[in-house]
Amino acid sequence: MKLKILVGTVTSTAEYVAQAIQMDCADLVDDIEIQLMDGLDITAFDDDALFLICTSTYGAGDVPDNAQRLYDALDMTPKFLGHVRYGVIALGDMGSHAATFCAAGKRFDERLQGLGARRVGEIWCHDASDGSVPEADGVAWCRDWLALAAAA
Ligand SMILES: Cc1cc2nc3c(=O)[nH]c(=O)nc-3n(C[C@H](O)[C@H](O)[C@H](O)COP(=O)(O)O)c2cc1C
Repeated sequence: MKLKILVGTVTSTAEYVAQAIQMDCADLVDDIEIQLMDGLDITAFDDDALFLICTSTYGAGDVPDNAQRLYDALDMTPKFLGHVRYGVIALGDMGSHAATFCAAGKRFDERLQGLGARRVGEIWCHDASDGSVPEADGVAWCRDWLALAAAA
């Protein structure tokens, strides 16, 4: 099984989480590829892979600028994604953005579900205001999530 991590980020935290997963979860899958979302369109989901959306939230609950094209493509150039299984890591800040906490990850989830893709497990939300380390917690979550995906 190949894991493809699609990263939406402004200040790279989501990318660091993806890199930590790439290093520390290599024993659980055949291959882990990280792709920044910049410039991607819906064909990013053509691969035979398990997908992990790993994105922060900006503005008032918006996707990061580098994720906007891919997010729009899921609406503007839709196609059936019934072959896609995915998970979501959503980075946000409950302390300063409670009303739109982790909204970008939730938005990607809604669009993917609307196209027939199947989410494995629950969305994992990281709260930057709680003092936890997103890379460490992200790896721990991902190990459990990959086991769930393998068993499904
Ligand atoms: C200007 C600004 C707007 C933000 N808006 C939101 C938001 O609406 N909802 C949320 O949960 N977090 C929000 N955040 C918090 C970021 O999503 C969070 O710090 C995240 O860890 C950043 O990840 P990144 O470095 O990968 O971009 C915002 C942060 C900034 C600086």
